[in-house]
Amino acid sequence: MSREPFVNRECELIEVIVMRKQREAEDIHSFELRRADGAPLPPFSAGAHVDVSIREGLTRQYSLSNHPEEQHRYLIGVLRDPASRGGSVALVDNVKEGDHIHISEPRNHFPLAHEARRSLLFAGGIGVTPILCMAERLAHVGSAFEMHYCTRSAARTAFMARIQSASFSDQVKFHFDDGAAEQKLDATAVLVKPVPGTHLYVCGPTGFMDYVLKTAKDMGWPEEQVHREYFAAPVLAQTGPDDSFQVKLASSGQVIDVPPEKTITAALLTHGIRIPVSCESGVCGTCITRVIEGEPDHRDAFFTDEEKAANDQFTPCCSRSKSKLLVLDL
Ligand code: FES
Repeated sequence: MSREPFVNRECELIEVIVMRKQREAEDIHSFELRRADGAPLPPFSAGAHVDVSIREGLTRQYSLSNHPEEQHRYLIGVLRDPASRGGSVALVDNVKEGDHIHISEPRNHFPLAHEARRSLLFAGGIGVTPILCMAERLAHVGSAFEMHYCTRSAARTAFMARIQSASFSDQVKFHFDDGAAEQKLDATAVLVKPVPGTHLYVCGPTGFMDYVLKTAKDMGWPEEQVHREYFAAPVLAQTGPDDSFQVKLASSGQVIDVPPEKTITAALLTHGIRIPVSCESGVCGTCITRVIEGEPDHRDAFFTDEEKAANDQFTPCCSRSKSKLLVLDL
């Protein structure tokens, strides 16, 4: 997968008004955001997300789910998840129509592949937000696609009416966990064998992603035809307590200790060096930093295995070091 290089770039914030807040399904609300000054919003491509500043110190990423041709509004879908770190609950419970909030410009780490002749879209739960945007785009340009949308039940299926009334509704298959066995997603049947020019896109909870991605791998789909976006980095099996190590700033030569209980970004911050962060869980790519020397211990869900193996960049918000010293391009 090719994507734009993205290193420690902070976007200017945009002030938007919540024009509409609507219940889309059980525990899921959509928020329609328009620019407070009435100007058009920056253009975006299917798969893009924005950082939403929910309140001071609380920023979360949400994929844009409206038609990517639209510039008068952004539409995000938010699952209120009390088990998460608090961003979705704060947004759904406290932000109401008419409120002014700040968002970043859109960024896209989950783009459609231009070279694809056909696309297979897999959405699990709230993972539908970027996938629906992709479906809108593919339908708009007349590109062949098929979308599979898995949820626990019809009541928990966001944007169902929108999909059913869309021009591409016959290209979408719904799969409900509480439905009959024959309507459940059989990824083996869908991904029966790799087809040159066909690209897969997967977004949803970790268990869903693992199922689709493992099936694709078992069926021999090449990595470059498989695109994914996680909500949270998969939990890695810990083999023991984290070790301490040091990071060195290439520009000044300053060496900073990173103790086991601190992230690299936190350790740097105590010395006044701030790396921009957003998700702080290895998903969004905001903190990406180049590695000049040493071997990072990658713990993110952002980079592909190939990118991780190159060891020339990493996510210091959650990743650590396998070597005693990491020299960073800071
Ligand atoms: Fe999101 Fe590091 S802040 S990957």
